[in-house]
Amino acid sequence: MKILLIHGPNLNMLAKRDTALYGDKTLTEIDSLVKKRAQELGVEVLAFQSNSEGTLIDFIQAECPKADGIIINPGALTHYGYSLREALVDSALPVIEVHLSNIYAREEWRHKSVIAPIARGQISGLGWRGCVAALEILAAEI
Ligand code: DQA
Repeated sequence: MKILLIHGPNLNMLAKRDTALYGDKTLTEIDSLVKKRAQELGVEVLAFQSNSEGTLIDFIQAECPKADGIIINPGALTHYGYSLREALVDSALPVIEVHLSNIYAREEWRHKSVIAPIARGQISGLGWRGCVAALEILAAEI
């Protein structure tokens, strides 16, 4: 089983961005923690980050035929990324949307996700452990 772990705009700045909201782990550290759990579960994880919606879509289109599920933190694209949403639909893979911070406890514009309606589910506000939980759920369900 292969899971795509996708991070959207600005998530390359983790540990430098507002650590009270996003935690103090770097993206590399988070990817390593997810991959460590994946190894225990016998799952392969391919991690990818981009600041560009088009590059995220190119990655999904290229990798979805070889994958079984997607974990995605779309960053701010969560709130307006319709092209990203369509690429996720076209992948025909189960998608779990993850947010480090609780988007419902923040500004009102963050309360709407255009990804959530097409996702298997959403995890919001549980920090990097949300990515690990999403992996465990996909591994159990697929
Ligand atoms: C985020 C929440 C988004 O609203 C924000 O734009 C991000 C990070 C999160 O992980 O909490 O970049 O997706």
